[in-house]
Amino acid sequence: MKHSIKVLCIICLYFAAMNNTTMAQENTTDQKVDSLLSLMTLEEKVGQMNQYNGFWDVTGPAPQGGNAATKYEHLKKGLVGSMLNVVGAEEVRKLQKLVVEETRLGIPLIFGYDVIHGHKTLAPIPLAESASWDLEAIEKSARIAATEASAVGLNWTFAPMVDISRDPRWGRVMEGAGEDTYLGAQVAKARVKGFQGDDLSQPNTIAACAKHFAAYGFAEAGKEYNTVDIGTSTLFNTVLPPFKAAADAGVRTFMNGFNILNGIPVTGDTFLQRDILKGKWEFDGFVVSDWASIGEMVPHGFANNLKHSAELGAKAGSDMDMESYAYVNHLVANVKEGKVDEKIIDDAVRRILRVKFELGLFDDPYRYCDEERENELLYHKDHQAGVLDMALKSLVLLKNEGDLLPLQKNQQKIAVIGELADDKNSPLGSWRLGSDNNTAVSVLEGLTGLGIDFKYSKGPKVFNKDANFLNEVEVNETDTSGMEEAVALAKESEVVLMVLGEHGFQSGEGRSRTKLGIPGLQLQLLKEVYKVNQNIVLILMNGRPLTIDWEAENIPSILEAWQLGTQTGNAIAKTLFGENNPSGKLPMTFPRSVGQIPIYYNHFSTGRPNPEPNVFWSHYGDEKNEPLFPFGHGLSYTTFEYSNLEIDTADQKNVTVSVMVKNSGESDGEEVVQLYIHDKVASVTRPVKELKGFEKVSLAAGETKKITLVLTEAELGFYNHSYDFLVEPGEFGVLVGTNSQKGLTGTFTID
Ligand code: BGC
Repeated sequence: MKHSIKVLCIICLYFAAMNNTTMAQENTTDQKVDSLLSLMTLEEKVGQMNQYNGFWDVTGPAPQGGNAATKYEHLKKGLVGSMLNVVGAEEVRKLQKLVVEETRLGIPLIFGYDVIHGHKTLAPIPLAESASWDLEAIEKSARIAATEASAVGLNWTFAPMVDISRDPRWGRVMEGAGEDTYLGAQVAKARVKGFQGDDLSQPNTIAACAKHFAAYGFAEAGKEYNTVDIGTSTLFNTVLPPFKAAADAGVRTFMNGFNILNGIPVTGDTFLQRDILKGKWEFDGFVVSDWASIGEMVPHGFANNLKHSAELGAKAGSDMDMESYAYVNHLVANVKEGKVDEKIIDDAVRRILRVKFELGLFDDPYRYCDEERENELLYHKDHQAGVLDMALKSLVLLKNEGDLLPLQKNQQKIAVIGELADDKNSPLGSWRLGSDNNTAVSVLEGLTGLGIDFKYSKGPKVFNKDANFLNEVEVNETDTSGMEEAVALAKESEVVLMVLGEHGFQSGEGRSRTKLGIPGLQLQLLKEVYKVNQNIVLILMNGRPLTIDWEAENIPSILEAWQLGTQTGNAIAKTLFGENNPSGKLPMTFPRSVGQIPIYYNHFSTGRPNPEPNVFWSHYGDEKNEPLFPFGHGLSYTTFEYSNLEIDTADQKNVTVSVMVKNSGESDGEEVVQLYIHDKVASVTRPVKELKGFEKVSLAAGETKKITLVLTEAELGFYNHSYDFLVEPGEFGVLVGTNSQKGLTGTFTID
């Protein structure tokens, strides 16, 4: 691809701007950045810190009036450093060309987009992927997403979301890795590696973005955009480690968030962004604000007006303003009036330019704009195979009484019931901005593809109109038509496959819920069917843990199928009929009722943890303390036996924990062996258990393997209130097993 003349000129200007001694040396990225920076006016620097949303059909005529025309003028004047939501090789090229050729310095734009679980070919929603506990598969899935995204001109994704959350009322749990910090950190690393690859300058890798820094997942009552108020123990030990893991894995950008944290909007939080991220962690990429979050510091009651917001955001370390118009309109004045030191601007611009250099945008600003690649790679068959594999690994078998599953092909009369079984859109899940509607393989198509004979009845309508990303999903609560027909079909069948759950757009941003049962009339339908036929397999589709206590009590088999993306129907069909043995494990606790929330396995002990004959112990009068399904739970068509727990503490910095795991059933399978520890007495109390290691192991029927997991200081220690990392001597409890509640236990001591 041809370099633009402007970029070549810039390169000449670098040399002009550099002194002779430097010239003789190798041009490191930082030297190039500094040289370019020295050529920039204050206005151009602030321009780099400004990000606009795509605003007109780029390949159509130039916008004539209003906001769009202003943005267009700003682009031509070098007052924009990045665009989001401009997609397609042709569109990106056109905009890039405008900037490279018409601005004074021709600094290329970086193009960002929410590529969350794929671009066109969709993998399962991130929460589902995390249920695989398969880091290699997760990395590969992000690689597929990056391959397609980079083929449509994009070079930056706003992913992974690494927010830990313990509250399934919050719709965005679908976008993260669940409730656990250790698993979340491993998944964060895998996703960053998958998006960014080994070399960011390759045209098929894109910059990743760890978001939302920080604690957005702790929104009070699970209500979107709500207040977060947590102590340092939770912030340091639960919230920050996945961000740190992303930084350690080389993530090039961070996004802050909408929430306040302990009274300070995170977008304006100096402690988080400067002291921790750019200070202690030495992060040298850049921080983008969340959408308009710089401006939202005004309604938060933290800034007087947009100008004040710009001042506070920049000082606190928010390097790029996404759609607040605060920096572009007010930062220059803030600098000129002495409110913001120009050094702060220089630091932000350096960070942004650094990433642009690393992406190779100065070598070739059009390197991501290749229509041939675009045509070849979107929906590529290898990507389909990759996301199918990911989907197969993400399914979680919650219950399988009497080994109802797997079913034998065409030996029983099968009924399939539920509107979601015939849905090609909802299973794509939320946060799929680049995808095409109705491109999922539906459950009915998956079954047909596998050669299964079945009869289908939709049952009552579940969702009232075409759901989309922007609007509330309307659920049918009243119209029972279709119920009778479904029940009649169930009655004449031998097995009933009920496909029920949430719509894909009932989770995601802005989708908080207070009721977490299966929506609408679906539970009523299930109960009616149950009256005539109890041989039911419930296939659940959902973007968050649901409260399914009646279902768990009464339905013999429950398969958690989340929203599995493009290959949904194939993955489900193969699993129901034994071509895939489920191996997923829950990355989030399933509560019995909403009143238990937040409920999570790694809680602290109260002073009164044990049952008493009176009421004065930590419990509910009307609900159990235990969850419905614990974190880490997931069954298989085979069974696994654990034995011989051994703990070797000879090397105190590498405590090894080993266990024998046997596939004691009749089919081959995979088990996620999970290691939890409990630091029994510490200067800052520790949770009753914490995941600190796991291994997904494949075992043939009858096979036994020894699994060894190592606890280093990184796993044994914790952060105190001053953010010091401590490993304290004393006794530790160990649990190694099949989920967070069940396994072999032991103890060891650190001297
Ligand atoms: C979300 C971010 C997202 C951004 C850009 C915001 O509403 O919170 O996660 O990356 O929009 O689409």
